[in-house]
Amino acid sequence: MQQIQGTALLVKANGISISYDNTGSGEIPVIFIHGFPFDRTMWDPQVSALHQRYRLITYDIRGFGKTEAGAEEASISLYADDLIAFMDILEIKKAIVCGLSMGGYILLNAVNRYPERFAGLVFCDTQCNADTPEGKEKRFLSIQKIESGGLSEYVDGLMKAVFAESTFVNNKEVTESIRKTMLATSPQAIISALKALAHRDDRCELLDEIDCTALIVCGKEDKITPPQKSEFMQAAIAGSSMKVIDNAGHLSTLEQPQEFNAALSDFIAGLLR
Ligand code: MLT
Repeated sequence: MQQIQGTALLVKANGISISYDNTGSGEIPVIFIHGFPFDRTMWDPQVSALHQRYRLITYDIRGFGKTEAGAEEASISLYADDLIAFMDILEIKKAIVCGLSMGGYILLNAVNRYPERFAGLVFCDTQCNADTPEGKEKRFLSIQKIESGGLSEYVDGLMKAVFAESTFVNNKEVTESIRKTMLATSPQAIISALKALAHRDDRCELLDEIDCTALIVCGKEDKITPPQKSEFMQAAIAGSSMKVIDNAGHLSTLEQPQEFNAALSDFIAGLLR
């Protein structure tokens, strides 16, 4: 499908209308799953750098960006089902899939259940662990805050957590654009996703079942999913490799796009060779 520049594509899958972009060409596409609470535009630096070499697909997770929320209760499994239904409707048998943080949780869930659909895996700033009891409690306090009109206070707190200190100084454009995205997200979608995140399964015991080439990337200053989480995944997924990115926090893909894109591009080239 050829995309008209600047016009998002829409497709109906798993009962919802999914908004996505599809650029470049290639037999095996690369699908990107954004983190929480962002949208597919967080992958703009990857799309602009790599679309001439590969077919790249970005989409909005249900409730985020321009994708419908649907009536079902959100869960990481439902988000993973959406991904598979989306691939089915686009007639994509296998893809290289790259997920950041919550996108990584979705990818792990999908790869455990549908291993045959993946040609390569990229886990960015993510983890295999479920929330701790304290982590869950924090999610429910956040829900209360948002329900009582405190979205902007919640977003201020997240801003401090997602970026490395240096990004606020050197890359204001990125920090402000992420703030805008979060503030434009529907509070209901954020609340639904917070519940989905709090209830997600721990998948660490299943990592050694993964039989697919994987790259694991993490910002050295990631405070939400620190490098130790990535090191654990790398040790457990046979044959995987890991890249730690300096001067980057939880959004390493945006904070140091050149370094991230080089690692991603090498990984894809190795798979498609
Ligand atoms: C994300 O970036 O997707 C979130 O930080 C994930 C989380 O809160 O666990």
